[in-house]
Amino acid sequence: MTGYEAIRFINDVLYILDQRKLPLEEEYFEAKTYKDIVYAIDNMVLRGAPLIGIAAAFGIYLSTKDAKTKQEIFSKFYEAKSRISQTRPTAVSLFKAMDEMAKCIDEFNILPEYKLKNKLRAKAISLWEKEKEIEEEMAGVGANYLKDKKRILTHCNTGMLATGGYGTALGVIRKLWEENGDIMVIVDETRPFLQGSRLTAWELKKLSIPYRIVVDSACCMLMNRSLVDCVIVGADRIAKNGDAANKIGTASLATVAKRFNVPFFVVVPFETIDKNIESGKDIPIEVRNDKEITQIKDFVIAPEGSKTLNFSFDITNAEFISAIITEEGIFHYPYNFK
Ligand code: MRU
Repeated sequence: MTGYEAIRFINDVLYILDQRKLPLEEEYFEAKTYKDIVYAIDNMVLRGAPLIGIAAAFGIYLSTKDAKTKQEIFSKFYEAKSRISQTRPTAVSLFKAMDEMAKCIDEFNILPEYKLKNKLRAKAISLWEKEKEIEEEMAGVGANYLKDKKRILTHCNTGMLATGGYGTALGVIRKLWEENGDIMVIVDETRPFLQGSRLTAWELKKLSIPYRIVVDSACCMLMNRSLVDCVIVGADRIAKNGDAANKIGTASLATVAKRFNVPFFVVVPFETIDKNIESGKDIPIEVRNDKEITQIKDFVIAPEGSKTLNFSFDITNAEFISAIITEEGIFHYPYNFK
């Protein structure tokens, strides 16, 4: 798209466009070991549920690549899996990617160690490629369904920086732009990490898609004045009943959208629907550190020692979602995902 990709995998190094530094610096962080991947996920060098899953898969491969024996591959694999699982608990794609990688280890007994390693590497690459294909399919489904929408509000970042390379919600928006041209994206700045103003605006600018940044609390005013045709967001995990976990602030947006009859859409790869979880109250919600709220980079914006309640995600009630758009089709309330 722009000469930049969220990740590049070259000679067993995962180069990660460092999202902490955007939009000011466009620098790649080099991950050579699974511990580098853990650091990158924990510290938001990369983020976004699908991309977290892809990075986790590469992390698993990197943990095994220097192992000398099959036993060592096996023990490194489980060491990495256990540590990576502790990074970002809300994103179900993290766990699904590691389960996919574990299927290679099931062939532990029959394959020689070099083949096992090659298989793990190939699997991580194919999970990445498949994710991108799904996103392009989803974007087509969504853009066709939403072709009359022009002023679109979105929250957080769901574009190439968060995914396999095309995007979830922002993929649909990008497709709408490619097909119809005439759209305006209203970008929630997305406190505290500012995924909207730093990352979504960066992507939209690179794509020459018109946008305006708004503060998160502007949604009520904008919808009350009929300035928003619809809201489109992604999700990190969706429960069986359709409750959706997404970036903090999403549930407030959905509540306000319901009040003003603004349609509210969630765009996800079908695998984001976690059929093991009945409802939103069972989705694990990540709580992040105080400094994310009390500082902007090193600049302190709250009294020293202030404690926070930094829930990174919230749950949007299924009833508030007008449709869930996936590559498998479009679902409506009451949700029954087959
Ligand atoms: O904390 P983040 O930046 O990883 O949160 C990302 C989101 O909330 C996205 O909306 C989500 O991962 C879904 S689609 C990329």
